[in-house]
Amino acid sequence: MTDWQQQYASGATPWDKGSPAPALVEYLQENPISGRVLVPGCGTGQDVRALAKGGAEAVTGLDIAPLAVERARHFLADTPRTEVLAGDLFLEAHRPLLAGQYDMVWEHTCYCAIPPSRRAEYVDAVAAVLKPGGHLLGVFYINPWDEDEDQTQGPPFGTGIEALREMLGVHFTLIKGWRPTVAYPGREGREWCGLFQKPG
Ligand SMILES: C[S@@+](CC[C@H](N)C(=O)[O-])C[C@H]1O[C@@H](n2cnc3c(N)ncnc32)[C@H](O)[C@@H]1O
Repeated sequence: MTDWQQQYASGATPWDKGSPAPALVEYLQENPISGRVLVPGCGTGQDVRALAKGGAEAVTGLDIAPLAVERARHFLADTPRTEVLAGDLFLEAHRPLLAGQYDMVWEHTCYCAIPPSRRAEYVDAVAAVLKPGGHLLGVFYINPWDEDEDQTQGPPFGTGIEALREMLGVHFTLIKGWRPTVAYPGREGREWCGLFQKPG
């Protein structure tokens, strides 16, 4: 199991690019958002800020690593309508503070960070925090490894698009899926975006 706090403490955070997910920036340019948004595994808060600036009524970041939470709170200190909570998505999603409170969940490198054996729990957790009719919007890391590399290593853990759709299909309907035209350097062609909806 990954010790996320230790990753932040030792500076082993290759995912932390110092800018929001390019696919999110691209989406927000065309699609203003509204309502309350949860960002599970928010890291140091870049996407939280982009979502708040993109029109969300309120954005909550959640992360299991206290150091990430501390850094995100510092980063977001001057960004209105944002908050960052410390906690485990698998537990917090089912507690009253989060359960049923959100119009949207933004997914970016949380799904690929958790062990594949817990993916069904992740999907349950995301469904639990959303209101009826709420949306899951995400950029999913499909194939983080080259063909000659061990595909089972991780995190990040890759997933096929069909497998992802099947997993999410337990609680959600796919509204739209697409390949982002922009990515962090090195992630080009390795991501897939999906907009899913929880039944109303
Ligand atoms: C690969 S990092 C990505 C962080 C951020 N999304 C980004 O792209 O910069 C995965 C993040 O998920 C957090 N995380 C892992 N498991 C978690 C859980 N069960 N609940 C909440 N956060 C979790 C880690 O602490 C880490 O910050």
